Amino acid sequence: MIDEKYSINELVDIAEGSDLEKIMKKFSTRMQLYSGGIKEIRTKLEILDEEFKSKFSYNPIHNIESRLKSMSSIVQKIKSKGLEISIDSITENITDIAGIRVICNYIDDIYRVAEMLTVQDDITVLQMRDYIKNPKSSGYKSLHLIVEVPVFLSTGPVPMPVEIQIRTIAMDFWASLEHKLKYKNSNMVDDDLHERLKKCADEISAIDYEMQDIHNTINSRNKSE
Ligand code: GTP
Ligand code: MG
Repeated sequence: MIDEKYSINELVDIAEGSDLEKIMKKFSTRMQLYSGGIKEIRTKLEILDEEFKSKFSYNPIHNIESRLKSMSSIVQKIKSKGLEISIDSITENITDIAGIRVICNYIDDIYRVAEMLTVQDDITVLQMRDYIKNPKSSGYKSLHLIVEVPVFLSTGPVPMPVEIQIRTIAMDFWASLEHKLKYKNSNMVDDDLHERLKKCADEISAIDYEMQDIHNTINSRNKSE
């Protein structure tokens, strides 16, 4: 078991001279590319948000979070899928190594942000899952995209997959707490607690739609003035 306290570069040193060193070096290069993918998407989102702010005096994005999946999580995921642990297999099968979470103010902003990003020439949409229109049985809501973005190296562009989760502040509030409650305690969440969590998701969702409606009403009153 590889200890998570080591960075990839430290592991490269530890494995010096062995086959593992070569694998780790390749992996480290690959991780830098994923990190580049996160930076590319983050910059695109920030530019769009700033443009919106200067044109309409309004920010569709509340905040952006990003993370690079840890090596131990990657290995855990590939093992749980019963797949071979190799760089090729990881590259082919794990599409959420680079992850970005975009927290929007209102539901409409989610689709606006997704549209503005995915129409860009250098973005290829590999997958789109709308858990807002089709929530998960847990009550989870979010718009999930896997996009490919080119990361430019000295040798040319390398297309990299990035998972983007777009949700409102309300959806994020529920997902964060539900994740914390379930993480390491999933065996304690029985049908009753599952139902109660689902009910919270429904109530939060109703508030989300009401806030959207209030926002729209104020906007239309502003326009008619
Ligand atoms: P993973 O193997 O978990 O990545 O699943 P997947 O490849 O089928 O992707 P999916 O579309 O289910 O989205 C996975 C990600 O969405 C998770 O890593 C979570 O961040 C989030 N997610 C999905 N379902 C839930 C849920 O019920 N609760 C919470 N809190 N988050 C969820
Ligand atoms: Mg995931």
